[in-house]
Amino acid sequence: MLDKTNKQFGRKPDSVVVHGYEGCDPLTGAVSYPIYQTTTYRNPGLGSDIRFSYSRCDNPTRLELENTVALLEGGTAGFAFASGLAAVAATFSLLKSGDHVVISDDIYGGAYRQMEEIWKPLGVLFTPVDVGDTAAVRAAVCADTRMIYLESPTNPMMKVADIAEIAKISRDCGAILAVDNTFLTPYFQKPIALGADLVIHSGTKFLAGHHDTTAGFVVVNDEKLEERMRLILRTEGSGLSPFDSWLVMRGIKTLALRMKRHEENAVKVADFLKTHKAVEKVYFVGDPDHPSYEVTKKQTTGFGGMISFTLKDESKVEKALCGGDMIMFAESLGGTATLITYPQTQTHASIPAEVRQKIGITSKLIRLSVGIEDAEDIIADLEKMLS
Ligand SMILES: Cc1ncc(COP(=O)(O)O)c(C=O)c1O
Repeated sequence: MLDKTNKQFGRKPDSVVVHGYEGCDPLTGAVSYPIYQTTTYRNPGLGSDIRFSYSRCDNPTRLELENTVALLEGGTAGFAFASGLAAVAATFSLLKSGDHVVISDDIYGGAYRQMEEIWKPLGVLFTPVDVGDTAAVRAAVCADTRMIYLESPTNPMMKVADIAEIAKISRDCGAILAVDNTFLTPYFQKPIALGADLVIHSGTKFLAGHHDTTAGFVVVNDEKLEERMRLILRTEGSGLSPFDSWLVMRGIKTLALRMKRHEENAVKVADFLKTHKAVEKVYFVGDPDHPSYEVTKKQTTGFGGMISFTLKDESKVEKALCGGDMIMFAESLGGTATLITYPQTQTHASIPAEVRQKIGITSKLIRLSVGIEDAEDIIADLEKMLS
């Protein structure tokens, strides 16, 4: 539980990202928060009440990161996991056999695989819906619904859920609203303020931001969820290591600068793609023609750096993916470098072809994570790749 008297509370996000939760190490004053590379802690005496006992359960470096992310998301507690998928697994671990989940029909392929291969066989029931359609979400709820799970924007089709409206639905049916906030980060979107109960992150992406570590987060806003999530992290042993916690913390210090630059570049790149003769359709939440543009304007403070697009001609796909000098054909997103990804064979390969086709993940769909390089260089490379 965050201490509400903490001095960071009144500060602006641009300052919070730089200073984190404690500001510096309270013990030594170290401005770069130390990496407590230890598994265990000396116990001063039998029966003494010590804060840290074993690093699988708690570690000061991880705690500083968890508190920082919770503070940014406006929750009461944060939990740092070894990957985004470990955070997704911890979220579904809140459920039991027979529980029903209304889930976005467009989600990261790894989360889809987890649903199919881990949670369905254990008896959790799922109804996939287009979360851009609030009425469809309401219609999918039943007496056993315990969770509504969504990404917004969705990966890779960039659908936008009206989080505040869906929060009303989850409140009405007593379900947990879990929102994966990976694409926009708390810098641009705060799902808890919009009514979500739980926020998930692949910290591997924009939060860490430098293509150098995998991490995941769950942030909650309720004491009972906090207690349960702490038990899950400690018992499943999926917490983030001290060194990786430090790397993510270092990444977060520049989150504000990076997110502004990602967005600034993405707006220019989306404009370029929209008028390019090889491009069929552009999916970008900052495009005024996006069907949920108004919802995005209402619930976020920025558009982020993620764009998907389709090509008119499938035979141009290979060059579009691999023909860049600077832009790299690689999985993942949210780092400093612009990455181009082919969802069909990479991030969403584990989704059956017919399901992919229905969602729009076709052989002509390409996803772009716009980096923080010079926009002119990104566009020049894309021009070459699309020629
Ligand atoms: C939206 C989203 N959520 C979760 C994940 C899983 O994160 P990780 O790769 O850190 O396990 C990803 C990975 O790409 C993602 O895009």
